[in-house]
Amino acid sequence: MKTSNIRSSFLQFFKDKGHEIVAPSSLVPENDDSLLFTNSGMVQFKNIFIGKEQRGYSRASTCQKSVRAGGKHNDLDQVGHTARHHTFFEMLGNFSFGDYFKESAILYAWECLTKVFEISKDRLCVTVYHDDEEAVRLWKSIAGFSDDRIIRISTSDNFWSMGDTGPCGPCTEIFYDHGEHISGGKPGETDADGDRFVELWNLVFMQFEQVSKDKRVSLPKPSIDTGMGIERIAAVLQGVHDNFDIDIFSSLIARLFEISGKDRLDIYKVPSRIVVDHLRSAAFLIADGVFPSNEGRGYVLRRIMRRAIKNARSMTDDRQLFQKLMPTLVDNMGGFYKELVQAQPLIGSIFSQEYDSFCKVFENGMPVLQRIISDLLPGQALSGADAFRLYDTYGMPIDVINDELSYRGILLDERSFNELMDDQRRRSREGALMCASVSPECQAYASLSQRIPATVFTGYNEIGGAAAIKAIIVGGEEKNEVISGQSAAIVVDATPFYAESGGQASDKGYMKSRSGASFASIYEVIKVNGLFIHKVIVSDGAFRMGDSVDLNIDAARRKKIMANHSATHLMQAALRSVLGEHVMQKGSYVSDDRIRFDFSHGIQMTAEEIAHVERIVNDSIRQNTSVVTEVMSYSDASDSGAMALFGEKYGDVVRVVSIGMCENFVTPFSMELCGGTHVKRTGEIGVFKITGESSCMSGVRRIDAITGEAAFKLFQDIYSKVRTIASVAKISMSEIDSLPQKLEALIDENKILRKEAIRMGASDCALSSVVSESIGSAQFWHSSLSNHEVKSLKSVVDNMKRKIGSGVVMVSNIEAQDASDGSVDAKHKVTVIVGVTDDLVDRLSAVKLLSSAIGKVGGEKCGGRDDIAQGGGHNHFGIEALISSVRESIKSSF
Ligand code: SER
Repeated sequence: MKTSNIRSSFLQFFKDKGHEIVAPSSLVPENDDSLLFTNSGMVQFKNIFIGKEQRGYSRASTCQKSVRAGGKHNDLDQVGHTARHHTFFEMLGNFSFGDYFKESAILYAWECLTKVFEISKDRLCVTVYHDDEEAVRLWKSIAGFSDDRIIRISTSDNFWSMGDTGPCGPCTEIFYDHGEHISGGKPGETDADGDRFVELWNLVFMQFEQVSKDKRVSLPKPSIDTGMGIERIAAVLQGVHDNFDIDIFSSLIARLFEISGKDRLDIYKVPSRIVVDHLRSAAFLIADGVFPSNEGRGYVLRRIMRRAIKNARSMTDDRQLFQKLMPTLVDNMGGFYKELVQAQPLIGSIFSQEYDSFCKVFENGMPVLQRIISDLLPGQALSGADAFRLYDTYGMPIDVINDELSYRGILLDERSFNELMDDQRRRSREGALMCASVSPECQAYASLSQRIPATVFTGYNEIGGAAAIKAIIVGGEEKNEVISGQSAAIVVDATPFYAESGGQASDKGYMKSRSGASFASIYEVIKVNGLFIHKVIVSDGAFRMGDSVDLNIDAARRKKIMANHSATHLMQAALRSVLGEHVMQKGSYVSDDRIRFDFSHGIQMTAEEIAHVERIVNDSIRQNTSVVTEVMSYSDASDSGAMALFGEKYGDVVRVVSIGMCENFVTPFSMELCGGTHVKRTGEIGVFKITGESSCMSGVRRIDAITGEAAFKLFQDIYSKVRTIASVAKISMSEIDSLPQKLEALIDENKILRKEAIRMGASDCALSSVVSESIGSAQFWHSSLSNHEVKSLKSVVDNMKRKIGSGVVMVSNIEAQDASDGSVDAKHKVTVIVGVTDDLVDRLSAVKLLSSAIGKVGGEKCGGRDDIAQGGGHNHFGIEALISSVRESIKSSF
């Protein structure tokens, strides 16, 4: 039975038993910072279990993508070394929210395993929480198990909790016996860790909520949460005992060996498993909007990717390996997980960036690690401080350090490493907490949202409207009125004000009483659990609970926001068409005066690409097609190809905004799930201009752009500046194309003039300080300069040679330098040039004269010809001696 069939048979079985089949939720738990990743099927139902949320069903069944690579449930280190641990896995589950309890849960599981999947009863045994007599009794009656097949466990193995807090309860686990040929004991026995008895299905009797470390309360209603790893049941049904031999993994592993060209040797068993397991978790995490980074979820993803890359490198140096494996993964899993198909190009590009950066880390950090541990003997430990430095400064993941250490039998002082890590985390947490401390206002909004129905938003069609005041909050407390001069947060039953969300800035405007006597300006609107909170400053009169008011948004400002928002959609579609399908929105902010858009793309955009995107967007604007907004089911939206945001959780009903037309005049150019407000026709955007393109973080670029009036103003402004430049450059606007050449010519000319000026300056100095001597029949002119450009000295000497007519000239120049090594000598650089006029070169050679004297200024060598030579040294005190030495040489030749 293929894994995909197992998935559908399971869901069908529970559908037939009256369960709602619910789509898997994102791997990033929504609004839940207590969990790093969705680690099981129950996570998306957490609030239903604890009575905070209700849905239209009391039974549900899912196939939930899950990651256990951090936090309470963390299997990262085991992966590759066992037959059944994964960082990413799929969990089949059925859930009862106060509906059925133990008996039906056991009955359904038993029927599903033995009837649907036809597993022999003889292969199965169960564990129960040690004091759960009811479960023992049920297993006996439903499965006909004798006592030896029902194992009582008193540890946390049979008491499941989601995390340190959250729903929890005792559980019963169903085990499958892979047979005597596999080693390992029954659960509870000392060798239970072997692979013979494998836990297949966990049925949790959800009865409690762990509120804090010391406090556990009963759930409103006893519930059921079950979970069966699809990889484990697939191994049983496909007749293999090792999860990595099931269809999904074996095809990936086969492809990996094919790409690497390696034989299936034992040494590659662990690396190949790590590569394919980690590829799955990384791919799914990226598809759910997680990006590799140095903190939180992104850091765990980075660890997973780097562990995958390190192991991949032990098999192949193909840097495209992960991209090449992706089609096989998508073939296997993209049918059920559409987000994987959509994100495939992005996953490929993130893998290649991470591959390159990891190779750099590896190449920089590994020699340092090796140097440090070269002094350590097996059994000794690498200090926590060194490990932390490698992690913090060189970016070496701790598992990579650990791998290297264990290979050499060296230990790690984990305690001190963890202390340093904790310090670092505490520092960043304190920073974060300072920003995120929950204000009394936020608490008041949250509590209001439990009592007051959600605000009706009328702002898709209206710019004003009447409403009734439902709550007033002043200084974090609910009040009956707010008076002139006070600030407050006001909730009404219906509003045209858009609350900041989805990257769109909130509206601004005002509220006035029906009589017009009271007036408040609204400067910000936020949304808390469906309540629109209007932040106001009352300038006239007062507003009371229940008052009827008129609300009006600043319509001109809203128009600009809409133009920017619609342009952002067109820009995203244009970026995808110019740069590729890997472009995904990673963040966006549209207000009345600007667009900021972050998107996945590894390298800087070229000027041509930017211009191309601008052209496409402006073409769409000029088409002036109408913008179509439709409300439809999520699945219809996804089938029609509407773009959704990675990692964003959408409800069953979504709003799809279609803007622009493709060349066929049938397909919308841009189609996105979006709750924002948009123009009615693209022409309202006016014009679109990108004003900046920069790096935002690894693999993410940022575009700044403007539209409409702001863009028009920019064009006017730039035009007027160009006109000013043209007039300064003394050309007319009709000759403006020649401006760059004209400027270049001016710059070149300026360079030449500057050089000449420097040379003349040096020449003048040299001549004004020249000492002229007659030595026999010869003339000797020498001049000592300081701080002149060395490049200009040769022409100074040439000039002096012309002036002397016949003789020897010498110019020295001292330059003060910063002593990088702190030594005294290094503080000056002496350059000496000697010239001999042509009539004397038979008797005197400049290069010989200088060579014999250069030692006086600490130099060793000089170069040149008989008529001119250059040398240098660092001893500026030796210049007088140098002059004497040259003088003596001249004397001896005449
Ligand atoms: N939450 C339980 C588990 O993950 C059952 O789904 O094992």
